[in-house]
Amino acid sequence: MAKEAKKYFEVNPWKVIENGFDPKQGRVSESIFSLGNEYMGIRGQFDETYSGDKLIGSYFNGIFEDKPLSYPEYFKGFAKRCCFMINANNWLYTRIFVDGTELDLAKVAFKDFYRELDMKTGIVTRSFTALGVKFTFERFVCIADHYIGGQKITFESQASHEIRLISGIDFTPVHEEEGKNYWHEAVKGENYIVGKTLSSGQRIFSKFKTNVSANKSANTEKIVANEYNIHLENKFSFEKVVYNYAERDESTAIDYLAADTALETSYEEYKAKHIARWAEIWKHSDIVIDGDDDSQQGIRFCIFNMHQTYHGDDGRLNVGAKGLTGEKYSGWTFWDSETYCLPFYMFNNPKAAKNLLMYRYNTLKQAKERAIEQDCAGACFPMVTIDGTESCGVWQHGNLEIHVTAAVAYGVWHYVRNTGDTEFLKKYGMELLIETSRYFASRGGWSPKTGEFGLYGVMGPDEFHMMVNNNTYTNYMVKKNFLYTIETVKKYGGNVSAEELANWREKADKMRINYDEKTKLFEQHDGYFDLPEYDVKHMDPDKCPIYKFWAYDSIFRVNMLKQPDVVLMLFFYSGDFTHEQKLKNFEFYEKRCSHESSLSPAVHSIVAAEVGKTEMAEEYMAYGSRIDIDDYNRNTHQGLHVTSMAAAWMNIVYGYGGMRSDGEILSFKPQIPEKWKAYEFKIIVRGALLKVRITREKAVFELIEGEKITLKIGNQIYEITKTPTVVSVA
Ligand code: BGC
Repeated sequence: MAKEAKKYFEVNPWKVIENGFDPKQGRVSESIFSLGNEYMGIRGQFDETYSGDKLIGSYFNGIFEDKPLSYPEYFKGFAKRCCFMINANNWLYTRIFVDGTELDLAKVAFKDFYRELDMKTGIVTRSFTALGVKFTFERFVCIADHYIGGQKITFESQASHEIRLISGIDFTPVHEEEGKNYWHEAVKGENYIVGKTLSSGQRIFSKFKTNVSANKSANTEKIVANEYNIHLENKFSFEKVVYNYAERDESTAIDYLAADTALETSYEEYKAKHIARWAEIWKHSDIVIDGDDDSQQGIRFCIFNMHQTYHGDDGRLNVGAKGLTGEKYSGWTFWDSETYCLPFYMFNNPKAAKNLLMYRYNTLKQAKERAIEQDCAGACFPMVTIDGTESCGVWQHGNLEIHVTAAVAYGVWHYVRNTGDTEFLKKYGMELLIETSRYFASRGGWSPKTGEFGLYGVMGPDEFHMMVNNNTYTNYMVKKNFLYTIETVKKYGGNVSAEELANWREKADKMRINYDEKTKLFEQHDGYFDLPEYDVKHMDPDKCPIYKFWAYDSIFRVNMLKQPDVVLMLFFYSGDFTHEQKLKNFEFYEKRCSHESSLSPAVHSIVAAEVGKTEMAEEYMAYGSRIDIDDYNRNTHQGLHVTSMAAAWMNIVYGYGGMRSDGEILSFKPQIPEKWKAYEFKIIVRGALLKVRITREKAVFELIEGEKITLKIGNQIYEITKTPTVVSVA
């Protein structure tokens, strides 16, 4: 892999620490120190003025603008409108003057810069000394109460100083990708402001309360703020609680009075609630690794960010590929949600898993309209989206990556299989299954040569082969989609005619799956084996990322992959394939994979572990959990790779724990990396909390909460209870 760690942050099991400040690293740090709570997120920008390079970023899930997409010719079926999550208000807005000089770390001398994210408590602190004063900034985005953000600034000095502090809420941040501020001021009053987006008409109402009385107002256009004059002797703390309310549509209309009630609670009280909620989360979600501090810090950072990004309070929201940490990828939801994120939530927060799927149910109307635009029936789910419509302006992806729709059906199947939530299946999942099947039945066609059914003109997950026929991953997922829909309709009685069911059955049975029994290889798509070889292993690292350095069409002329495709299928439906098939296909495709997508290494690590390639599994794993802390892809400055963090979680639980969730019962084949002494993870299985601890000699399965559960460990079935079940580790 042409990827290298860039070590900047200190390694610590519970914290990410920045000791000293390198302005060149400023944006990476802003991403790393991002805080969020599903509802809103804020980057780690400095509170006070900083005239150096920065991206002041504040995002609200579901608050977006759009722009038209146009094409010179041939445009029917292409996305016409691109929605993007916009940069919103800087509710940490602060200006500090010490004895008349403005604090700006790009302009004044400072020492002892220290910043940490404490993942146990979800609090970011930053301290340094400048202008004769020691400053400590503390902030949190309340995980226990979505509308609340907290900020505290402590000033300390032996000498006395006159501090002029300006604090408030600022709606002037520019959305950098579009070079535009998207807000106008709708209303402003004492300590509150309502910002309204320029065209979508959505509003954010923000109100704040401080522990100190203001000396005067410091309002300017789009900014509500006060000036506080502080005579500093020794030590002084300023606390601000902000209530932010995002009115996405009529159903979420602003309730002004709720803010006053919410602001009766103090900074310290909210902070205590926030810390207590994080303690609860860690109680059932932590992974402990003994013997590898890098992986320990890395995986906690991933778990922390998965919970920060989503916990399923609102079925109209989803996970953006970069969460709420930057503008890149525009807050869009991808197929990552059902394929990579769903397992994390299914086993850590089943309500969140359900709501990821409810989001698809809630956007069925848009998916049906999209199918019609593409001359198809049923529902076609978008490649990238915020509001359920397709936002992908690159038609090759938006129109050809039809595996996204199969991922939705896969998500329904995977969720129901592991949670037993048949109520969801009957009420919502059924419709998703029927409409996705209808789409594929109409999107595919019959080969006149072989009489097989197939999907033509597609792009598989690999993305480096465009407009191909019969991508094996896609065809297999669609076959499964048909079969599960038929099974569900027969069991629970959906509104589908016998003819339609028979049609899906025939298409499933006759689906082309390119497989060579002699070599045991699945051909990625028709003609893939004919493509010229490209030596990925000796690729010039300076020619990466590929999308930047390669002529676009040259990518499609060789057999190099962007990310797993056949290998992904072997993982998702692990129980359907033999060890030999997995080994042979892994050996074949791994060599040809460039891992241009950050989703790639974890899946390779998982399958490498399964087929006994332990060294390779470890190498891939190191990258996965620290992708952002060590800025492996050199693009952490754009925001965090949140959905890849879900893959990193799978890397441990599925990769080393050997968990597989595609069978009748959950199964495990535990192993342990060379370097580790022991590791431990917890998962929620059908309401019970299971703890798994694996040492070099044994694996111990025990229930922490709940009755009993049945698991397959190795080749044997066990009833797991509160009395530990001990098995040996191979
Ligand atoms: C990958 C896609 C993925 C997207 C968002 C792309 O680089 O190729 O599969 O959905 O990133 O994570």
